[in-house]
Amino acid sequence: MITINLAVVPGDGVGKEIMPEAVDVLTAIAEVHGGLKFQYEWYPYSCEYYIEHGKMMDDDGIEKLKNHDAIFLGAVGNPKLVADHVSLWGLLLPIRREFEQVINIRPAKLVKGVSSPLANPSEFEFVVVRENSEGEYSEVGGRIHKGPDEIAIQNAIFTRKGTERVMEYAFQYAMQRRRHLTSATKSNGIFHSMPFWDEVFHSMTERYPEVDTQSIHIDALSAFFVSKPHTFDVIVASNLFGDILTDLGAAVMGSIGIAPAANINLNGKYPSMFEPVHGSAPDIFGKGIANPIGQIWTGKMMLDHFGELELGTKLLNIIEEVVADGFKTPDIGGSFTTKEVSSEIIKRIKML
Ligand code: NAD
Ligand code: IPM
Ligand code: MN
Repeated sequence: MITINLAVVPGDGVGKEIMPEAVDVLTAIAEVHGGLKFQYEWYPYSCEYYIEHGKMMDDDGIEKLKNHDAIFLGAVGNPKLVADHVSLWGLLLPIRREFEQVINIRPAKLVKGVSSPLANPSEFEFVVVRENSEGEYSEVGGRIHKGPDEIAIQNAIFTRKGTERVMEYAFQYAMQRRRHLTSATKSNGIFHSMPFWDEVFHSMTERYPEVDTQSIHIDALSAFFVSKPHTFDVIVASNLFGDILTDLGAAVMGSIGIAPAANINLNGKYPSMFEPVHGSAPDIFGKGIANPIGQIWTGKMMLDHFGELELGTKLLNIIEEVVADGFKTPDIGGSFTTKEVSSEIIKRIKML
């Protein structure tokens, strides 16, 4: 019996609604396998936790989470209770940092039964490999001069190690797919980091002659995600560019509520974290209509991570069948609730 010891952090907003559903899905799929078991430990870390305790997680929160094989996270953020830069830099971002989850894998594809906002979408299936530990997300900088002369300075940090690491991962990933890699750049408008990013990318192309490569400025690339998403296979992007591109990719799929993601620790020293692309969706929280598919598909990525590829494929097939059969929440044009969609998924898992 393989036991996966999971830390479950529902977090805020719709994270609290979709997490119990996704956990039930995981339990059901593990039963199909027979030799796999998930063990769950739930953590209440969230903005409400902050209001009660003055911090987003326990002082030894990182130590506690470290003892798990993986972290399954919903979403963090309730700007009405706690400012985003406090909540996110108090929970989500420290987890990514401390556990060296340096790669964020975010796939997007046309899903049967989900209508893309594109008028005539061709089949597309691409993956954004997002640098997840540095770049534009940095604590270096500050605010000087109060009043009308105030200046906020934000320094982006691009290390050679971090840049080579994400590109190496993306090239390897492309080698296992259609061998086509796009680098998201902005070397025409950003003076230091992006010319450096391009240099590292170009030097690596020589090591992977089998991979067809292109560099596209992030502004044009955003347009191409809409006008010709079928032309992409793997896209490598800095932290902020990857963040923005993946909400766009999700929108082109039809809803941010279905987009999955995985924060990967590469050296095996710490747990990886699985959380969907979307946030806590305060505008729909409490209505029971949040789409659970982003979280459940993220669970599929976790199965893949633990080598359970066949099981992961079965789960994704069921997700797609359920959606194609019309079990859809309002964000993708249906009128089903969170629970109705996940219950249908579980029902079909049990029929496997
Ligand atoms: P958001 O992703 O929460 O919401 C954007 C839009 O997508 C909203 O209209 C929302 O209703 C919709 N949406 C999101 N998830 C959905 C789902 N599962 N089903 C149906 N519709 C869904 O982005 P935001 O409004 O910018 O952020 C809200 C809060 O979440 C903020 O505090 C933000 O910082 C935080 N956030 C957290 C994460 C994370 O924890 N990984 C990611 C993004 C945003
Ligand atoms: C994401 C989110 C986070 C990010 C925020 C909430 C810090 O938008 O996971 O995409 O920017 O990485
Ligand atoms: Mn984001």
